[in-house]
Amino acid sequence: MLVWEEELKPSHSAPANALPNATGHAPVSASLASTAAAVSSHRPAPSQAAQSAEQRRVKAADKRIINGQTDVNQLVPFKYKWAWEKYLATCANHWMPQEVNMSRDIALWKDPNGLTDDERRIIKRNLGFFVTADSLAANNIVLGTYRHITAPECRQFLLRQAFEEAIHTHAYQYIVESLGLDESEIFNAYNEVKSIRDKDEFLIPFIEAIMDKDFHTGTTAADQTLLKSLIVFACLMEGLFFYVGFTQILAMGRQNKMTGAAEQYQYILRDESMHCNFGIDLINQIKLENPQLWTPEFKAEIKALFLKAVELEYRYAEDTMPRGVLGLNAAMFKGYLRYIANRRATQIGLEELFPNEENPFPWMSEMIDLKKERNFFETRVIEYQSGGALSWD
Ligand SMILES: [Fe+2]
Ligand SMILES: [Fe+2]
Repeated sequence: MLVWEEELKPSHSAPANALPNATGHAPVSASLASTAAAVSSHRPAPSQAAQSAEQRRVKAADKRIINGQTDVNQLVPFKYKWAWEKYLATCANHWMPQEVNMSRDIALWKDPNGLTDDERRIIKRNLGFFVTADSLAANNIVLGTYRHITAPECRQFLLRQAFEEAIHTHAYQYIVESLGLDESEIFNAYNEVKSIRDKDEFLIPFIEAIMDKDFHTGTTAADQTLLKSLIVFACLMEGLFFYVGFTQILAMGRQNKMTGAAEQYQYILRDESMHCNFGIDLINQIKLENPQLWTPEFKAEIKALFLKAVELEYRYAEDTMPRGVLGLNAAMFKGYLRYIANRRATQIGLEELFPNEENPFPWMSEMIDLKKERNFFETRVIEYQSGGALSWD
């Protein structure tokens, strides 16, 4: 995974001195309302009209990730090219769950000797977390994050990301359905399985805070609330909470078990890697434009959240693997989670939380390397990319 993360990591396009010049806060809705009012109200003399139209033109330099005053309906001129490039890259990665052949998985699951009880527990716990996790992620984007982001090229990525979260929920549902699992057991796991519920209860307050209709950015406290929510989602949910589950299913795939599910998870992991990296770029750009948010107290709060998330994910690893299985055991994940947490922390400008931690699963990087990605591009993606040349006869 790390290979393509590095490959796709953009350089920040805004200079360090690109600080906002807006002093007051205008929520997007207010900004749109004022634009509409400007269009429909009094009619100035032609020369004045020309001037104000000129003044109303969006200038890239005026755009801001949060609290921007420019029209969010105007995608171009681009300021945040990295966001647009990531949007294009995610579109080129398009895939659908039904394209993956699940017949071997179905035969294996139905064979009483096909999988051990511990392996079946991993699959059910895994799906139990993921079937609702991606709905949470989608709701967080659509009902929370989206309206607070004032850069339309970033909104464009979020729209695509929201659809990909729907595809992921679809993929997990498709696996549940293909294997004939008890749907009520799997879809209720997030209420009924403590290790899953604890992770969701950790996340939900950060969604609710920014979904609240009375929540608006524009003060230091509110902007920090949004920034914290973005960090929790990109670095701790997509960037950490998904990784025990991904590793477990990919480990099965390596042993030639549940290969259809493992293929689905590979595509999902690639999407999530992009989401995580986009989120980190968004966070770093907000930091660049609003350095006053990054206080020692705020950083201490973020570090505490990282430590809590590592603990929760470790508890989940223990619950899903009460005994060693697939050559993995829960203890191995302690090092892996610390290694990933270090990486996420440094990606947003924090110091390593667990210095000198090594990656105990180097095969994760080997397995999901660029060769696999090229294979993917050479097959399905080309079919999608030719979709622009449909004939209408
Ligand atoms: Fe997802
Ligand atoms: Fe995601």
